[in-house]
Amino acid sequence: MPQTFSKTASHLIQLCTRQPMATPVDMTDRHVIVTGASPNSIGFETARILAGWGATVVATCVRNVPLMESSLKDELRKIGASGNNITAHRLDLCDPDSVNGFAAWYREKHPDKLHVLVNNAGIHRKTLTPRKEPLFAENGREIHWRTNYLGAFHLTWALLPLLQASGLESADARVVNVSSGLHDRVGNDYLFTDMALCHSWDAYGLSKLAMIHMACEIERRFGESYNLHAVAVHPGVVMTNLTLPYAFRGRMGKAVHRISSALTSLVLLSPYAGAQTTVMCASTKSLQGGKYYERCAIAEPTADSQDEAVSKRLWDQSEHWVRTLPNAVGNVH
Ligand SMILES: NC(=O)c1ccc[n+]([C@@H]2O[C@H](COP(=O)([O-])OP(=O)(O)OC[C@H]3O[C@@H](n4cnc5c(N)ncnc54)[C@H](OP(=O)(O)O)[C@@H]3O)[C@@H](O)[C@H]2O)c1
Repeated sequence: MPQTFSKTASHLIQLCTRQPMATPVDMTDRHVIVTGASPNSIGFETARILAGWGATVVATCVRNVPLMESSLKDELRKIGASGNNITAHRLDLCDPDSVNGFAAWYREKHPDKLHVLVNNAGIHRKTLTPRKEPLFAENGREIHWRTNYLGAFHLTWALLPLLQASGLESADARVVNVSSGLHDRVGNDYLFTDMALCHSWDAYGLSKLAMIHMACEIERRFGESYNLHAVAVHPGVVMTNLTLPYAFRGRMGKAVHRISSALTSLVLLSPYAGAQTTVMCASTKSLQGGKYYERCAIAEPTADSQDEAVSKRLWDQSEHWVRTLPNAVGNVH
């Protein structure tokens, strides 16, 4: 409870102070993937800003790819850009075929070119009613773990050869893992148990703890050898589809949604502000790999998230899991 209070207080203080902004960088010649870029999300703003700075961006979502693509292009045209440097593609991180298919499509479209992978897509179910029973994905894994961590690991693993080639060729490739301040809800002990966490906030936090471990391990394994660096990011508490899901249907529901949107926008960051740390990590020349960033600066994650032996063990376990998937691709590492 005291921790929740201090987090809320620090969030409110931060809201009242100037939001740090990423400094524009020329991203021409950089190829970027941003997962989870639906309208009104942090990923949408991340993709839009990076494309606006000249990067060739592939943005993904699950449900409405045409809407995401047209919205992104419309926003780019508003600033006088052509929008031709952004493409949308469907990607469902819970579906191994979708991940493999996306990776194969990307490799064919952009051979040997992937400078930045932004693992941003994520879910947080039952935020207001965090039931005391676990939620499962179709294949039986706890749903936050399956989507936010295992899915992102699978995608990264499938794209590793491209990231490594781009790191060697350009001396700078990166993976930016969008984590969360909620990674502190649980400790490392829960990473290696088959028991699914019951409280959805704990399950979400565990997946975000794993995203920090993944970033640290990429840095350790490939930082020096391939110039492939990785960091984890907490975007802040941001008003998106995740924090304000569309809970109600019909005319009444729309009205309720509009009122609650207006109220929450007073206390949460906008997606544009929430994208700044990710954008900074995807673009700045002076990134320090293996770190955790918040408000466009290095921050201190939990001690558990910095345990190297655990990062290594989790990587090995996840790699083993990926190799058991049907039609695993890219396994040359
Ligand atoms: N908002 C916050 O306060 C906050 C705080 C800390 C961390 N974060 C993290 O920031 C990231 C972005 O969240 P957000 O707030 O922008 O949420 P959001 O608006 O709900 O966007 C989430 C994105 O992830 C995609 N997605 C959902 N399930 C997926 C799956 N199975 N495979 C691939 N993509 C999937 C969604 O696509 P569809 O729309 O097509 O389903 C959407 O594009 C997440 O990792 C979240 O955990 C957010």
